[in-house]
Amino acid sequence: MQKKMIPEIKLHKHTNEPLVCLTAYTTPMAKILDNYADLLLVGDSIGMVLYGMENTLGVDLEMMIRHGQAVMRGVQNTCVIVDMPFGSYEESPEHAYRNAARIMKETGCDGVKLEGGMDMAGTIEHLSNRNIPVMAHIGLMPQSVIKDGGYKVKGRSQIEEIQLIKDAKVVEKAGAFSVVIEGTVEDVASIITDTIHIPTIGIGASPKCDGQILVTEDMLGLNEKPAKFVKEYTNLRTKIESAISVYADEVHARTFPAAKHLYTRPKVVNSKAVNCNKKSA
Ligand code: KIV
Repeated sequence: MQKKMIPEIKLHKHTNEPLVCLTAYTTPMAKILDNYADLLLVGDSIGMVLYGMENTLGVDLEMMIRHGQAVMRGVQNTCVIVDMPFGSYEESPEHAYRNAARIMKETGCDGVKLEGGMDMAGTIEHLSNRNIPVMAHIGLMPQSVIKDGGYKVKGRSQIEEIQLIKDAKVVEKAGAFSVVIEGTVEDVASIITDTIHIPTIGIGASPKCDGQILVTEDMLGLNEKPAKFVKEYTNLRTKIESAISVYADEVHARTFPAAKHLYTRPKVVNSKAVNCNKKSA
């Protein structure tokens, strides 16, 4: 299989084949997801998921680059997008370009994502015109959590609906290759999907979006308090807990490690040491 790149992602708008998108932050996880996903996002949700932060505002560029590199080491097939963290792109299009170029150069990823609609159109245009593919992110924008006073669903009022549709049209015009629609009323996400010509990626939005994304750890049941829009496809938390409790019991009972986990001395034949144990050496 050939690696999916931005043009193939854009094509999904026309083929009507939904895009399978997930977050990834590490090499082992990226290796697993690489066989199933069209697009992996190194999301700034990493702040909460891996680093125990309260929200995404504490995530910095170095973290995104380090984890972007880790994910790139794990993929062969999938398009990889890295989130621009809070404070790395809002100041000016030039500042955003410098940081986006660093992300692209130092990770080798396919593009960046940033939060914002009309307010970020100038920046999206600046980056897109300079060979940096941009995925926009509208609706509920986690980096606005302090300003919004929480994670608020968007599109419930007519004013919000009109603004969201405008945002989507403007980011498309500015050159975004796709747009994430998060935490948005179903029919508004559906109208946006019918209105614009770049793929919409829904998270808590609509099955009509051109693709779906979830935080991988959420859908694996590792988040104690997942959002309403998360479907847990398994519960790794309980599976990990039962494995760890068996391990703890075995350590206490001294039944782990067992004989097969131990190293032995090489067998001695005719006073010469012969290593019969090459595999475990
Ligand atoms: O940071 C993130 O993981 C995201 C997705 C959930 C869309 O922005």
